[in-house]
Amino acid sequence: IGFKLDCRGIEKFVTEDEVRCMEPFVNAAHEMIHEKSGPGADFLGWLELPGAIKASEIEEIKETARQISGKCDILVVVGIGGSYLGAKAAIEMLTGYFGNFASKRAGKSPRVVFAGNNISSTYLKELSELLEESDFCINVISKSGTTTEPAVAFRVLKGLLEKKYGKEEAASRIIATTDSEKGSLRKLADSSGYKTFVIPEDVGGRYSVLTPVGLLPMCVAGIDIDKVIEGARKAQELLSEKELSRNDAYRYAAIRNILYNKGMLVELLVSYEPHLTSIGEWWKQLFGESEGKDGKGIYPSSASFSTDLHSLGQYIQQGRRMLFETVLNVKSPRHDVSVVADPGNLDGLDYLEGVEIDYINKKAMEGTMLAHIDGGVPNMIIDIPGLDEYSFGYMVYFFEKACAMSAYLLGVNPFDQPGVEEYKRNMFALLGKPGHEEQRQKMLGRL
Ligand code: PA5
Repeated sequence: IGFKLDCRGIEKFVTEDEVRCMEPFVNAAHEMIHEKSGPGADFLGWLELPGAIKASEIEEIKETARQISGKCDILVVVGIGGSYLGAKAAIEMLTGYFGNFASKRAGKSPRVVFAGNNISSTYLKELSELLEESDFCINVISKSGTTTEPAVAFRVLKGLLEKKYGKEEAASRIIATTDSEKGSLRKLADSSGYKTFVIPEDVGGRYSVLTPVGLLPMCVAGIDIDKVIEGARKAQELLSEKELSRNDAYRYAAIRNILYNKGMLVELLVSYEPHLTSIGEWWKQLFGESEGKDGKGIYPSSASFSTDLHSLGQYIQQGRRMLFETVLNVKSPRHDVSVVADPGNLDGLDYLEGVEIDYINKKAMEGTMLAHIDGGVPNMIIDIPGLDEYSFGYMVYFFEKACAMSAYLLGVNPFDQPGVEEYKRNMFALLGKPGHEEQRQKMLGRL
């Protein structure tokens, strides 16, 4: 299957005995996950999701994507956190930077852009200007149906859509992905007659990329979602293994906990492929929200090499020793290019003539890894076969499983995010939302 966890870069820091000592804890956490007996067990729907997705649901997603493609140049995905990061990561990994890869494979696919993941008026205005000149549809995504950022952006963009096409046609250009019953978005969608997709109740936002939350935008972008699911299904099968020595997701989780207990408080997810930059953003949400609670947790960070070797590289090599790295190593690039001949050798690069750029990239990776290990930074490598759909699906499930295991090993509920509410309460109070009057008075006194 081509997916492999390579732990040679942690041998200086973690012994095999230390890993074996984690076995009873891993066994207990495996039971909590598979018997659904741990904290947050109501949100384990993602565990069997790849194998449980119905063919009829996939067909409905494809049909809706076809309709969107038939009438739009642009699909605006309105959502925040788990309601957009997975789709963005997939689209950036699997389609071309310059808009030329997906369209070659899948005919002309609409461009997918994102909104509602910030509260920038400048962003919204500039997007609106683009949309005024384009044929567009909106996929508004919110599990709770009440999140402020997407709700505000949706109100503005819906207004634009209605002004452009009239109320009735606008309604046919809006797809809402939300809970089956709860939340304002569900109410709005039902009363306006929008096409809707359901986010299963037992799948939390950051674990929802393999539901219509991620699959519909991916499909619109020309991505083969059957292959995404195939990769995730393979991971579901292989990573259901209980034995720590035979389950790479569990081994990764166990090792990061050992490193954390040795004072490595920050994990850098690194890749040498700019197409994986947004995977880093998705992964940060998954691990950050799942583990960072009760005064505990590894701080998840990410970097894109070799770009960031020229900014963060100095710190990683010689700064405070609290870091470890997990490197996503794409085994085969989607395309390769060789260094061409250039008579005169004025740039001194003749020694690389005919060498493939990906070979140079791999040597950068190996050289960096050895330097960082020598500098006291443990390194794990996750080999990924390629920048393809199967690899994406596998990787998503791998990290979901590893994250659940890791959080249970840490002793926290992987599936809640109580801390996220704090800023929302303050924001509502400051904005004068009804019901927040007392908090408002307290806060105004502090500002
Ligand atoms: O993981 C989570 O549940 C959250 O980060 C959500 O994805 C995020 O807050 C968006 O929530 P919603 O989809 O309800 O708008």
